Amino acid sequence: MPSFYFQTFGCQMNIADSDDLRRELLCRGYDETSDPLCADLLIVNTCSVRENAETRAKARIQEFGRVKKNGAKLWVTGCMAQRLGQRIKEKIKTVDRVIGAQHNSDFLAHLDKYLPKYDHTGVPGKLHNSPGDYITVMRGCENFCTYCIVPYVRGPEVSVPASEVVSKVARRVDEGVCEFTLLGQNVNSYRDGDIDFADLLKMVASVPGVRRVRFTTSHPKDCSEKLIKTIAATSSLCRHIHLPVQAGSDRILSLMNRRYSLDHYLGLIEMIRRYIPDADITSDIMVGFPGETDDEFEDTLRLVEKVHYTTAFMFAYSSREGTAAASMKETVSEDVKLSRLKSLIDLQTSITKKIYDSSVGEEFEVLINGRQEKRERLWMGMNNGFKKVLLSCDSAEAGMIFNVRAVRSSGMTLICERITK
Ligand code: SAH
Ligand code: SF4
Ligand code: F3S
Repeated sequence: MPSFYFQTFGCQMNIADSDDLRRELLCRGYDETSDPLCADLLIVNTCSVRENAETRAKARIQEFGRVKKNGAKLWVTGCMAQRLGQRIKEKIKTVDRVIGAQHNSDFLAHLDKYLPKYDHTGVPGKLHNSPGDYITVMRGCENFCTYCIVPYVRGPEVSVPASEVVSKVARRVDEGVCEFTLLGQNVNSYRDGDIDFADLLKMVASVPGVRRVRFTTSHPKDCSEKLIKTIAATSSLCRHIHLPVQAGSDRILSLMNRRYSLDHYLGLIEMIRRYIPDADITSDIMVGFPGETDDEFEDTLRLVEKVHYTTAFMFAYSSREGTAAASMKETVSEDVKLSRLKSLIDLQTSITKKIYDSSVGEEFEVLINGRQEKRERLWMGMNNGFKKVLLSCDSAEAGMIFNVRAVRSSGMTLICERITK
C-alpha cells in the first residue's frame, strides 16, 4: 500500500484543511506514515502569515526534497502555495506539484489524475486520539487589515451551509469526537440565509453527543451582544472568547484598518465580563507596526494590564509583500521590535500567572485530552474556559469529563484533583 506523510504549518484552519485532505487520501487506500523517508507522497501544507512561517516551510520542503525516497512525490499546498504558485517549483526543483489554499478541490483532481487509486476498506475513522476536532465554518476574509496576507491568499468570505456543518459534526460524534471548535478568520460574519453565527453555535451545541463547543476567531468590529448572550445561556458553549485586539492605540488601530476604537473594544470586554463573569478572554497582539512609537507601545502594555487576558498570542510585525502596510515606512528596527515583544510577553506571562494562581480552590469540569507523555497517572485537559489542567487519576481516558478542584498552580497550568458532586 502506498503511503503519505503530512506536515502542516500555520493556523487551525490549515490543520483542518490538512485533516480533510488526509481523509481523502485514506479513502483512496493510502496509508499514513510517521516517517517522511518511507512516504511515497509528501505534502507540506504551508502558511504565509509572517516571513518566518514561509522560511520554515521552505526549509522543510527543501529537506524533504533531499531525503525523500526514490520516486516519491513532493506536493506543496496551503497559503504559501497560493501566494507563490509555480514560483515554488522553479526555486525548489524537487517539488512536483503546487496547489494553493483556494484550490483544495483541485487536490482531489490531482489525486485522481496523478496518483493511482487503491482498494480501500471504507471511510477512515477518527484521525486523532484527541476528543476534540476542528470544523471550518467559513473560509476566506474580506477585512483587509493592512498588515495581513490572509485575504489575498484565502480569498473572499464563503460560509459553509449550516446543514453541512451540522451533519459533519454529527458524523464526527459517531467517530467519538465530543468537543468541536468552529473555525473562520472572522466567524462573526458567518451567514447562511437567516442563520447567523450565534444561531449556528446553538445548532451545533444541540447535536446529540456534543459536549463542548468552542470557536475562533471573533473580530471585535462584529462581535455581537447576541453572540455573548448565547454563550452565557448555553452550558456546552465554552466560557472562552478569543478577541484579538492587535494594538492599544486608536491611531495604530486605524492604520491597521481594524475598524474599531479602543473604547468600542473595552465596551465589549465589559459586556463579556457582565454576561459571563468567569470567561477566559484571549487575544492576538502585534508590536512594531510601521510608525508605532514608544508611547503607542506603552498604550498596548496598558491595555493588556487593563483587560487581563488569560493568555495571548504575541507577534512582531512582519512586512508582507502586496499588503497595504508593506508600502508604509517601517520605523521600528528589528531590535526594538524584539525588545518590545519581550516586554509584552513578560507582562502577559505575569498576568497569566496571576489568573492561574487566583483560580486555586475553584471547582469546574475538565475534559481530558490525553495522557501526559512521561507520567502514567497524569492526564492533561482543559476546563470549560481556556485554562490548562493537569489531573492525577488512575482510571481516565481521553474524552472523559470530570468534576475537579484546582489545588495548585504552576503559573500556566492548574494541578487538579477529582471531586464528587
Ligand atoms: N483573523 C484573525 C487573525 C488571523 S492571523 C483575526 O483577525 O484576529 C493570526 C494573527 O497573526 C493576527 O491576529 C495577527 O496578530 C498576526 N499577524 C497577521 N499578520 C501579521 C504580520 N504581517 N506580522 C505579524 N503578525 C501578523
Ligand atoms: Fe487578517 Fe484582519 Fe482578516 Fe484577521 S480579520 S485574517 S487579521 S485581514
Ligand atoms: Fe492560516 Fe497562515 Fe494561511 S495563519 S490562513 S495558514 S497564512
